[in-house]
Amino acid sequence: MSAEMIPLEGYERRADELMIDRSLGFLQQARTRRTVREYSSDPVADEVVANCLKTGMTAPSGANQQPWTFVWVQDADIRKQIREAAEAEEREFYGGRAPEEWLDALQPFNTDDHKPFLETAPVLVVVFAEAWKNADGEKKKNYYVSESVGIATGFLIAALHNAGLATLTHTPSPMKFLNSILGRPDNERPYVVLVAGHPAKDCQVPAITKRDFDDVVIRR
Ligand SMILES: Cc1cc2nc3c(=O)[nH]c(=O)nc-3n(C[C@H](O)[C@H](O)[C@H](O)COP(=O)(O)O)c2cc1C
Repeated sequence: MSAEMIPLEGYERRADELMIDRSLGFLQQARTRRTVREYSSDPVADEVVANCLKTGMTAPSGANQQPWTFVWVQDADIRKQIREAAEAEEREFYGGRAPEEWLDALQPFNTDDHKPFLETAPVLVVVFAEAWKNADGEKKKNYYVSESVGIATGFLIAALHNAGLATLTHTPSPMKFLNSILGRPDNERPYVVLVAGHPAKDCQVPAITKRDFDDVVIRR
């Protein structure tokens, strides 16, 4: 059955100069986003997080299936459980499971099996990707799940940054323990743990660069 068609709302035709201004403003702001691994425990207003989650939920998705669940974790005991389970996985990862090549790639970031930010940062959003739905007693596959959830997570990261919060995209491997700690069903696969909050005082970040425009963008 096709959806009812309605007029497009919220679009306004803008002059080129205004679009250049706005695109540059957004670019400049985007360039100040950095992955932060040291957090203050200062609280963040619920309304800020809720607005950012709602922004993530506006993302496009394959056939509008919106195959995501955001588990918004603030509870100290749950964060402790997540930290302990993540550190156990990471101890195995750094202690032998990770291929040498991957450890070399991670070296500039000074990461190790300690994940204090999972407890110090006031907010964790665990993003789950829904592989299929149970509808009318039937398993219904979702399409373009990774692509859709990746885009929604990108919207969420941009919204949190825009609001004035730092984030860390954290991917302990494997992440299945998140289903049991957070009570999520088997049709949902943990996608990323997004850590959010204010950076710790004197927080430092690795000096890294982004690829050059001409290296990345090919015009035909
Ligand atoms: C899918 C994905 C997974 C990541 N996993 C981790 C992680 O588990 N731990 C970590 O410290 N950083 C992780 N990062 C952060 C990257 O290291 C970081 O984005 C990259 O070094 C670029 O730095 P920037 O975000 O400051 O631009 C991840 C980023 C992405 C996009």
